[in-house]
Amino acid sequence: MNITIIGSGYVGLVTGACLSDAGHKVICVDKDKSKIANLSRGQIPIYEPGLETLVKKNIKEENLSFSSNIKSSLNASKIIFIAVGTPTSLEGDNADLSQIYSCAKEISESLRDESIIIVKSTVPVGTCDRIEEIISEKNPTKKFEVISNPEFLREGSAIRDFENPDRIVVGTSSKNAIESIKEIYKRQIKKEYPIIFTSRKSSELIKYASNSMLAMRIIFINEIADLCEKVGANVEDIANGIGLDKRIGPHFLNAGPGFGGSCFPKDARALIESGEEFKAPQNLLKAVIDGNERRKLNLGDRILEVIGENKKVGILGVTFKANTDDMREAPSLSIIPKLLKKNINVSIYDPEANKENINEFYGAEWKDDAYSVAKNSDCLIILTEWNEFKELDLKKIKDIMTRPIIVDFRNIFSLKEMEDLNFEYHSVGRNTINTK
Ligand code: UDX
Repeated sequence: MNITIIGSGYVGLVTGACLSDAGHKVICVDKDKSKIANLSRGQIPIYEPGLETLVKKNIKEENLSFSSNIKSSLNASKIIFIAVGTPTSLEGDNADLSQIYSCAKEISESLRDESIIIVKSTVPVGTCDRIEEIISEKNPTKKFEVISNPEFLREGSAIRDFENPDRIVVGTSSKNAIESIKEIYKRQIKKEYPIIFTSRKSSELIKYASNSMLAMRIIFINEIADLCEKVGANVEDIANGIGLDKRIGPHFLNAGPGFGGSCFPKDARALIESGEEFKAPQNLLKAVIDGNERRKLNLGDRILEVIGENKKVGILGVTFKANTDDMREAPSLSIIPKLLKKNINVSIYDPEANKENINEFYGAEWKDDAYSVAKNSDCLIILTEWNEFKELDLKKIKDIMTRPIIVDFRNIFSLKEMEDLNFEYHSVGRNTINTK
């Protein structure tokens, strides 16, 4: 099939690369001409394992191309994905839908009869209806469908998640659209991954409810971890103990510094706004957002309690999680400014973060590897769970540190290992080792 994808960010790019790899002819469109020029040369602006290879392969096989001309791209196909961003608006907590609506207006000006507009962007319940209205106003006689098809891609494993989805969710009542969707996802359907068809509104809400449920699990286990620290219990044993209940399951119960990223905070806030708009308050989610924000703000104080002031601290990992270069809502953005304000000497290493223009880190020193960060430091802070951090030579780390203190917000090291090596070791929801 010929497919046009409007929006070449995380979601649009991964969707385009994977659908072109499945044999469709895909054009990825974006307003940003320099981004399109780079993408056409196979230069990917984001770190996503496997994406560059997949994009280059399909450019070479002429299944995938890029354009900043939306009009010509829309004329090339009747299958149009909307994959533009819906960030939290600057005025409040609701989703900013300006890109969605300008996309709908542009589609309405070049719409081909029998087109299928597939909304992959995360949009508040009822947005597909609004998109349909915008397009209908301009094209009262043309036949087209607007369907909802939210994504469930995790940064760092987006290609794996696209090719091996837990489920594909489709919101439509149109039989024609259903046939087209089955053709689009032929590779996933052939591997018998589940595809569910529901109403547009239910599909829109499934996305928000899914991310909000996951966010709730994280803040739940983090607050249990706080209690564990007070009473001397072990949060990993609790996560294991509750996770063996099949109704709960073992995933997404890793206690940590709090959730970040471009989705959980944004989607939970947007769902709270939908609750307010339709007078169905999402009170639990309000507590999730408040609890998560409070946690991230308190992390810096926890570090200061451990090391006191005017010391040298090394930070390992500043992105919102491992296997990404994404800094959005990362806990480090709350922690590092607090340490710098206390005149603490801060050095940073992150395998993928882009060192440029992170104002919050002004005054910190970037290093090229973990050992340079550990050298002569009084305390090492683990903020992301990169494998390379798990594989550090801890004897060497201890030898080069001034004080052997580790504050591990990802529980990447074992308590026994830390005890044997005689580190003073602070982690999340577990006993502290070797405090004086
Ligand atoms: C999420 C959803 O998982 C994905 O389905 C959706 O499409 C987009 O949003 P992402 O934001 O990329 O994906 O990251 P994810 O791996 O879900 O982690 C989100 C946050 O939760 C991160 O800050 C991560 O560190 C944190 N997390 C995750 C925990 O603290 N503990 C866990 O057990 C899992």
